[in-house]
Amino acid sequence: MDDKQINQTAESFEKKTNRISWSGKLAFVLASAGSAIGLGNLWRFPYLAAKYGGSCFLIVYIILGFTFGISLLLLETALGRKTGMSVIEAFQHYGKKYKIIGILGSIVPFIITPYYCVIGGWVVKYMFSYVTDGSAALADGGGYFTSFITSPDFSFVFMGIFMLVTVLIVAFAKNGAIEKANFIMLPALFVMAIAITIYIAMQPGAADGIAYYLIPDFSRLSPELFISALGQIFFSFSLAMGIMVTYGSYLNKKDSLTTSCAQVTGCNILIAILGGFIVVPSAFVAMGGAEAVMAKGGPSLMFVTLPTVFDSMGAVAPVIGFVFFLLVLFAALTSSISLVETLVSILEDTLKWERKRSMIVVIIYLFVVGTFVNSGYNFLSFIAPLGEGSSLLDLFDFVSNTVLMPIVALLTCIFVGYIIKPKELIDEIKISSPFKLEKAWVVMIKFVCPVLVVITLVAYVAAQFGFFSM
Ligand code: PHE
Repeated sequence: MDDKQINQTAESFEKKTNRISWSGKLAFVLASAGSAIGLGNLWRFPYLAAKYGGSCFLIVYIILGFTFGISLLLLETALGRKTGMSVIEAFQHYGKKYKIIGILGSIVPFIITPYYCVIGGWVVKYMFSYVTDGSAALADGGGYFTSFITSPDFSFVFMGIFMLVTVLIVAFAKNGAIEKANFIMLPALFVMAIAITIYIAMQPGAADGIAYYLIPDFSRLSPELFISALGQIFFSFSLAMGIMVTYGSYLNKKDSLTTSCAQVTGCNILIAILGGFIVVPSAFVAMGGAEAVMAKGGPSLMFVTLPTVFDSMGAVAPVIGFVFFLLVLFAALTSSISLVETLVSILEDTLKWERKRSMIVVIIYLFVVGTFVNSGYNFLSFIAPLGEGSSLLDLFDFVSNTVLMPIVALLTCIFVGYIIKPKELIDEIKISSPFKLEKAWVVMIKFVCPVLVVITLVAYVAAQFGFFSM
């Protein structure tokens, strides 16, 4: 196709569907990077890096990101742009029986969004607390955190604030609010991450942490490391849940899919690396080793261990704490926006509802289910769905991340690799740019990715039921 034809196709498509479309490639890259960059980069990645020997994990993650992650990212965005539809319709486009893959894929964001907003609420609370309560109050070894999440009132209020901000931005999506929000928040996030990284690197003791994080010790390589890195790629790249299909569907036929996906992958990995530069050396500064980070995964790393680390930094502690949580808030917001936008577009496209009606239903859904998940820490704390000490949030996380996402990714690879055939999407990719790695991509989609996905699924489920420890 020449440029003129491409322009015409794109314009007639937009008129026909009256869908949102990105103002250009940069908007798409920022929005997709915004979706990818989130709690996963600043919280989950550093924890895994500390646990699995720092640099070894980093190297494996970078390699998998630029092979496994980017291949699936390209597949999803190309499928979205090809069909111009969100996930259910995109699969159905090729036959009614394939709709089920889209339905499974769209269940995932319906499960993740409510609990992502619960955690978003914790982040908002902590950011404010550095202003109102000072840094020592937050560094009390966990009491502050527990009393907040179990509170029958404030925990709900902060979840509501986070939801409100997200929903307001998505409500004005047609006026470009998602683009504007990403244009502001992502660069700010980069600047803050770099500033905190530099500050921490200058602290006494940080050099040991940096060495742990950067100098590889290959004896630390293990199957567990590899599988954890794979699992992290799914969550962090926002794969297998319809987000990238939806965002791809808003992309113009002129804009290169290959370079966009490479840029999104690069930004996502860069922020994960910076997240590690903040957390791993911090642990060395305050506690003389990575053990503190490793001992406390999950919520306590971000909400208990890090505030303790910050508090040890003296007078600047409240500033560092505030900026850190603002950084996390921006990362979480750019992700929650992508989640809510995906929910709205699924209802619009599938049920042919107006955007406004879809918005209202999504808001009610979020409010009801978010309240339910949050109650798992207070009113319903007697429910331990995955064994002692587990919460409703853990259950939601397990079903979506551990079970559904790999299943959807596997079905998607089989669908593209063997049913519609990779050529269908390769033609779409080539509309906007040459595709030099075409052959390698086909091998990834047909053979490598399905195998890696099955390994991830089996290992994570086995680990959850105690057959395997990670
Ligand atoms: N990718 C986001 C992160 O790293 C998480 C996310 C999951 C965002 C699902 C959107 C959807 O935190």
